[in-house]
Amino acid sequence: MDRTYIKDTVEKTGETVKLKGWVAVRRDHGKLIFLDLRDRTGLIQLVINPKVSADAHLVATDIRSEYVVEVEGKINPRMENQINKDLPTGMIELEVTKLAVLNKSEPVPLSLDTDGKEIGEDVRMKYRYLDLRRERMARNLANRHRITKFIRDFLDAEGFIEVETPILSKSTPEGARDYLVPSRLLPGSFYALPQSPQQYKQLLMVAGLEKYFQIARCFRDEDTRGDRQPEFTQLDLEMSFVEREDVMALNEKLLIDIVTKLFPEKKIQGTPFPRMSYQEAMDKYGTDRPDLRENKDDPNLLAFCWVIDFPFFEKTDDPPAGGGWTFTHNPFSAPKTEFMDDLLNQTNIEGILTTQYDVVLNGFEIGGGSIRNHRPEALKAVFKIMGFEDERIEKNFGHMLEALSYGAPPHGGIAWGLDRLVTIIQNEPNIREVIAFPKTGDGRDVMMDGPAPATDKQLKELHLKIDAVKEKK
Ligand code: AMO
Repeated sequence: MDRTYIKDTVEKTGETVKLKGWVAVRRDHGKLIFLDLRDRTGLIQLVINPKVSADAHLVATDIRSEYVVEVEGKINPRMENQINKDLPTGMIELEVTKLAVLNKSEPVPLSLDTDGKEIGEDVRMKYRYLDLRRERMARNLANRHRITKFIRDFLDAEGFIEVETPILSKSTPEGARDYLVPSRLLPGSFYALPQSPQQYKQLLMVAGLEKYFQIARCFRDEDTRGDRQPEFTQLDLEMSFVEREDVMALNEKLLIDIVTKLFPEKKIQGTPFPRMSYQEAMDKYGTDRPDLRENKDDPNLLAFCWVIDFPFFEKTDDPPAGGGWTFTHNPFSAPKTEFMDDLLNQTNIEGILTTQYDVVLNGFEIGGGSIRNHRPEALKAVFKIMGFEDERIEKNFGHMLEALSYGAPPHGGIAWGLDRLVTIIQNEPNIREVIAFPKTGDGRDVMMDGPAPATDKQLKELHLKIDAVKEKK
């Protein structure tokens, strides 16, 4: 007999089926034993009556929560007074004729029948493979999958192709610290994990791809917060021969389609998405990621907006520009056309506005992008304003300047913080709830016990010496 998924049992009253899954709860009612059986699609009540199957009853006597079982039996309607309106299968139950244990389970160290919010983070993360059994987490992962699948299908239909870019890469300035990976073959040299695929995607535009996207893993060594992970996922995309309006229109349509097609219960507060300049946002809301929701208690309300016209540069105390200028968003951005002369001449630096556009949802920045400098002299001017010497520009960005010199098309793009978008759609308080195996607040993987010291052999191969090591807790 083929296995039936629990969600499909509601249409099979009167039929005999085979189910497989985990025992969520066991209840003994005198002679009758009740088990709640869970699979990835739902939960159903099993009734084990010794008069129907003495064997099954014997097996059920020893069964505990989280045992993995296979059962056969007949789906019966429940008696009127036993209907459970909170459960999709609450009208029916399975009268068991055969029951086999596929695997036992030790008592689990955390409860799985709640939403888990009452359990400490370290326990949840240490036993993440159990934590993910809870319905809320399974739903978050499933909806995340539906969103990324929708994005892939949408962009495919728009003529985009998905390209994987390297993870072992070189430092690229995105405003955060890099994760470094020592090279064995080039002792003393390090790869950097990408903070974003920014440079590669621009190089793919030089390569003539015209429409690129990637569900891209990014790495930034920054302090973890509720909306920030050291390792996170972007929907990254780039297009050639486009202007700001083209990129914004495509992304707005994709966001609206995701919400209306996948989450019809949600309401988008305003379409087209309201737009405001950075200055307006700061003047009116005191932040460049305003929460425009009219009713913050409505869990189904989504208030998107675009923030545009950011200043390109701001003062910094950090070297190399110490007391000079650094970029506010992205050094590869183009200025708005009317400021191109200022950029090239390095004049009116504080007044230069960038083509940067940020997309904000319910007070969180869920994405940002810009039109890029596709002429090498304009990109070089950005680094000059930031106080980079010619030698350093050549060393760090020579490949980009050279690539732009071989017929780079005008281009622009955006990246969404995919985890953030899913977090908000799922009404979760924290980005960790929508990532299968996230890092804890202090950047650890408590399940795998990472990061971990390297062995002496590894260090020797990498020509590395550790200066001082804080004792591990
Ligand atoms: P930016 O740095 O703004 O732009 O990143 C794009 C979006 O990624 C999300 N994000 C994060 N999400 C979780 N954890 C983090 N640590 C984290 N950091 C950023 C945010 C943000 O809006 N290359 C450019 C994009 C471009 O210009 O095309 C970039 O990475 O939602």
